[in-house]
Amino acid sequence: MKLCVIGTGYVGLVAGTCFAESGNDVICVDIDAEKIERLNRGEVPIYEPGLEELIRRNVAEGRLFFTTDLAEAVRRSLLCFIAVGTPQSDDGSADLGAVIRVAAEIAEAMDGYRVIVTKSTVPVGTSERIRQVIASRTKHPFDVVSNPEFLKEGAAIEDFMKPDRVVIGTDSPRARALLQELYEPFVRTEQPILFMSPASAEMTKYCANSMLAARISLMNEFANLCEKVGANIDDVRRGVGFDRRIGQHFLFPGVGYGGSCFPKDVKAVIRTAEQYGLDFRMLRAAEEVNVRQKRLLVDKVMEHFGEYLRGMRFAVWGLSFKPRTDDMREAPSITIIEALLRANAEVHAHDPEALGEARKIFGDRIHYHRVNYDALRGADALLIVTEWNEFRRPDFDRMKQLMKHPVIFDGRNIYDPEDMQARGFIYYSVGRRPVKP
Ligand SMILES: NC(=O)c1ccc[n+]([C@@H]2O[C@H](COP(=O)([O-])OP(=O)(O)OC[C@H]3O[C@@H](n4cnc5c(N)ncnc54)[C@H](O)[C@@H]3O)[C@@H](O)[C@H]2O)c1
Repeated sequence: MKLCVIGTGYVGLVAGTCFAESGNDVICVDIDAEKIERLNRGEVPIYEPGLEELIRRNVAEGRLFFTTDLAEAVRRSLLCFIAVGTPQSDDGSADLGAVIRVAAEIAEAMDGYRVIVTKSTVPVGTSERIRQVIASRTKHPFDVVSNPEFLKEGAAIEDFMKPDRVVIGTDSPRARALLQELYEPFVRTEQPILFMSPASAEMTKYCANSMLAARISLMNEFANLCEKVGANIDDVRRGVGFDRRIGQHFLFPGVGYGGSCFPKDVKAVIRTAEQYGLDFRMLRAAEEVNVRQKRLLVDKVMEHFGEYLRGMRFAVWGLSFKPRTDDMREAPSITIIEALLRANAEVHAHDPEALGEARKIFGDRIHYHRVNYDALRGADALLIVTEWNEFRRPDFDRMKQLMKHPVIFDGRNIYDPEDMQARGFIYYSVGRRPVKP
């Protein structure tokens, strides 16, 4: 099939590349000329495991192209995917500016039947808005489809190639048949393609993200309670996770959810509910808990060292909002580092992939280290903010030698408290008893 994907970010680039990988002819479009130039030079502008190799192969085999020319891409495509950002606007709702602009541009470029597919996360009613925008600008026939994306950054290729399910929201039999044909190679092991109305598809995406975000906040609340009453959240997590009604995923406590989706999507649902006269109390609570949880490590630091941190040096391991991505949007590390800086502390940060993104946020206000151990030299304490695999089995003796004080604040519970005690560390984690040597 011939298709274009407009918006070449974490979602659009992965979707376009994976569609090409299954044999389609794909044109990826972006307004960011520098991004497109880099892609055309063979550089991948984001870090996503496995993506670079797939892009290289599909470009070499002539199925994947990058351009800023939206009109030409639309003329050469039957399906046009919209995958531009839908950031949070001032009132909490999703900013649909880019989506609507792109829909208008597609309409003006159309020279025959097209299917316009929204992959961006958009509030209920957006498909209808897109339909009206396009209908007012073209005489050619078209269908609008809502096809929300559920991939996780860090495992995006795997998620896209083998989705748990594909959700297609459309009222058109013609568009339904085309989307079914497009997605069949991705669901060979019987995962369902679920057809529904555009409004239900749009709501499904928000419901999934809200549920996951609420689950994280609920576990974080239990973790905080565990610490107070002397229970261990790891044991509690295992105890509930084996219940088949609950399951093992998304039960790990930590320093709060971040990223480009959960925070803004939860706010967008709260805002949509408000617009319809509903108070979505569960999600307001999930969000409030998350805001507080992002400060958790700093509160623990201040309980240990006092609120006045001038002259103290803190190592931070992990800056991206989760491992295996360089994405720092809404990352808890930002809240934590800003709070340390406000208390006049010095911050030495390490991340395997996100140092470039971090530099855009903090500039020369913090120190950056390519090697994790280098960040520890002379540190009063280490804060672990993202659970990259390479932090799980470090050389603890070397760490102790490098640090001024052997104090660790672990926001991801990657070590065992008893083990850390035996190794001579003061060790704080989430929802578990702190230990001292
Ligand atoms: N990142 C995720 O894990 C994820 C997962 C599922 C769904 N989503 C949703 O997918 C959408 C895209 O998210 P993302 O993380 O890929 O965003 P992103 O910010 O990484 O990428 C968006 C891209 O769109 C481009 N763009 C903006 N306006 C444009 C225009 N008028 N014409 C052409 N290109 C334009 C930008 O330059 C950018 O490259 C959002 O709605 C998001 O909520 C994201």
